[in-house]
Amino acid sequence: MSDESRQYRTAAVIPAAGRGVRLGPGAPKALRALNGTPMLIHAVRAMAASRAVSLVVVVAPPDGAPEVKRLLDTYALPERTDYLVVPGGGTRQESVRLGLDALPEDIGIVLVHDAARPLVPVETVDAVVQAVRDGAPAVVPALPLADTVKEIEPAAQGEPEPVVFTPERARLRAVQTPQGFDRDTLMRAHDTVAVAGEGATDDAGMVEQLGEPVVVVPGHEEAFKVTRPLDLVLAEAVLARRRANDGF
Ligand code: CTP
Ligand code: MG
Repeated sequence: MSDESRQYRTAAVIPAAGRGVRLGPGAPKALRALNGTPMLIHAVRAMAASRAVSLVVVVAPPDGAPEVKRLLDTYALPERTDYLVVPGGGTRQESVRLGLDALPEDIGIVLVHDAARPLVPVETVDAVVQAVRDGAPAVVPALPLADTVKEIEPAAQGEPEPVVFTPERARLRAVQTPQGFDRDTLMRAHDTVAVAGEGATDDAGMVEQLGEPVVVVPGHEEAFKVTRPLDLVLAEAVLARRRANDGF
């Protein structure tokens, strides 16, 4: 294998170990069905749809790795895509770290993609990979915000929260996944930034803490995160629209 292809082999790490507390009671979020297929399978297929991605590492719920492995064996992936399953940790940051530790040596570019964003289009995945190949150490897809955002001072439960600041909306972006990284940069970020409290929810933010540049590329409406019950309704509507459009 030439040095160049070594440098450019791309893997996607999919943290899928969360419980999905905000979605309400039930199976771990990544294993819940969207139109009959587990959310995780949609997310894995979304990564495997990119010709750039040769390996998918799924980070399963801590006690659910065998079940997730069986699931991936059941649903066919493109032949060019390998997959691995590792058990996750107590925070997203720890789960991503456990996924990174499983990467083979010949991977040069890493995508980190939430299982909870099952519908990201392949164009977004490819745009992120391309920006890393073009030399950016860290790339995040992002969209402008619909809502104005305010920073508040947290108050006791039930008390009104004082506003401390209103950033200019036009300069804000809501970030999505897959986020793309030069492998060594992301490893260094995970080696450097300690897990504090709930841990980092955004890998690019950890790279920012190293002082390395992070760039934004256009995200996609369909890359939204399934977080609350209404998001399930939206996700199934998107799938129904895709199916209808495929019919023509
Ligand atoms: N995640 C993970 N390991 C954890 C926590 C989260 O791998 N210990 C993953 C989730 O499975 C999800 C992604 O990180 O794919 C984004 O997290 P989030 O949307 O917050 O999912 P949950 O943590 O499962 O949901 P909640 O916060 O509502 O419990
Ligand atoms: Mg969470």
